[in-house]
Amino acid sequence: TLVTTNDILRHAKENGYAVCAFNIENMEMVQAVVAAAEETGSPVIIQTSANTVKYAAMDMYMAMVSAALKQVNVPVALHLDHGDGTGLAQRAIRAGYTSVMIDASKQPFEENMKQTAAVVQLAKPVGVSVEAELGNVGGKPGDPEYGSDGYTKVDEAVAFVEQTGVDSLAVAIGTAHGVYHGEPMLDLERLRALRDALDVPLVLHGASGLTEQDVKNCINNGISKINYATELRIAFTEAVKEYFGLEQDFVDPKKFTGYARDRVKEVAIEKMRTCGSHGQA
Ligand code: G3H
Ligand code: 13P
Ligand code: ZN
Ligand code: NA
Repeated sequence: TLVTTNDILRHAKENGYAVCAFNIENMEMVQAVVAAAEETGSPVIIQTSANTVKYAAMDMYMAMVSAALKQVNVPVALHLDHGDGTGLAQRAIRAGYTSVMIDASKQPFEENMKQTAAVVQLAKPVGVSVEAELGNVGGKPGDPEYGSDGYTKVDEAVAFVEQTGVDSLAVAIGTAHGVYHGEPMLDLERLRALRDALDVPLVLHGASGLTEQDVKNCINNGISKINYATELRIAFTEAVKEYFGLEQDFVDPKKFTGYARDRVKEVAIEKMRTCGSHGQA
């Protein structure tokens, strides 16, 4: 069943687990994530980045998710990850996405609030959930190296949520996108303070590369949505490479995409168990 992120994140927050949000890049990854959700009885979020929706149209991802959901009963949300403003958000809403992110976290505080409020204004009336980001989660090419001065400030977060009316908030507490070079320094004390001060579900970006214990610590201290992109990309791509190492005498692409799909499903199941979402659907 297609649901909003609000529907499933509120339940996660109240019940002390987190929902996995997986970035998908193709049909096989959609199938793998939906099969993993069905098998474990997990609510799940499927998300596409701004770059991913340049690779194929949002209508295409929406159609793949809708088709996959015809065969199962688990609640699944389709979310625009790291949207950059009202234009992209509007396109996602028109395509049928149930949730959008506006990431204006690189802008000054006031401008971030303004851009976030604008997206809330167009999404809320049509029942689409909105995630925003405050603080600096780095790790993407071109991102500066942020220290703890880039971490989300509690007083700013309170004002931000109150004034924008956003449904969930991505916080910067020491994670980074992509693989980690060195140990991530997670500020769990700050996460607890954010949880205590805020009503909305909190989102962790950059979960690929964290240990299982790190993820559990984040959930126990207030995170309700965990974003995984890189680890699923690695799983898919490494499986394809492995397949080409094992077999060369074939012409059917289904051979290697099917092999990679199985591997992505295994990783998704493992992450769902780490997040404690199994059996919560
Ligand atoms: O945060 C999103 C993921 O890291 C994917 O982003 O599609 O721009 O590489 P990308
Ligand atoms: P990773 O690539 O580190 O898993 O980060 C994913 C993410 O935050 C997507 O928004
Ligand atoms: Zn992210
Ligand atoms: Na990461």
